[in-house]
Amino acid sequence: MTGTAVYYSFTGSTEVIAKSFSEKSGFKLCKLEDREKRKSAPASASILGLGTALKEPLPDIKNVDFLVLLTPIYAWHPSAQMNTFLKNAGIGGKKLFLVGVGAGETNEKAMARFSGKVKKLGGQVAGTKAFKGVQLGKNYKEVEAALQKSGEELAKIIDSPT
Ligand SMILES: Cc1cc2nc3c(=O)[nH]c(=O)nc-3n(C[C@H](O)[C@H](O)[C@H](O)COP(=O)(O)O)c2cc1C
Repeated sequence: MTGTAVYYSFTGSTEVIAKSFSEKSGFKLCKLEDREKRKSAPASASILGLGTALKEPLPDIKNVDFLVLLTPIYAWHPSAQMNTFLKNAGIGGKKLFLVGVGAGETNEKAMARFSGKVKKLGGQVAGTKAFKGVQLGKNYKEVEAALQKSGEELAKIIDSPT
């Protein structure tokens, strides 16, 4: 299966998973970037379900049928950056696999919220998966090998028909 992976990463762990996934699967990789450099993750906007300013243009997904979206989890919610992408990218009618990366192993509440947003915008959720990223205050380099493995695991999950 081929498609496009779109991700946001503030401290780098989601990026390692996204890159490893893309290398293994051949999916095109697109990064969401803050319009202005920030000092911390926009957790409060995430909790409120709001967006935040991103660099434009956003990834063009007009001709993409299958998308993998990867976002860090902030306070049991997907990132404000992913919210902005969802709201503006035109995901209606597309198939999407959703990935949340958090300090915890599972992020059921966050993944349910992420799915809910996508469905509300007309996207078809093909599946979800939560991965462990980096603990607060730690450097992702300490767990880089595990993150790369998560990317490879994701490629396997998406490659095998459900
Ligand atoms: C303000 C804030 C809130 C967070 N809330 C959660 C949370 O609710 N659940 C969780 O598993 N991780 C939480 N995390 C941890 C991040 O999701 C985790 O470090 C993730 O790997 C960051 O991704 P990144 O390295 O790609 O930026 C939080 C981190 C920050 C900074």
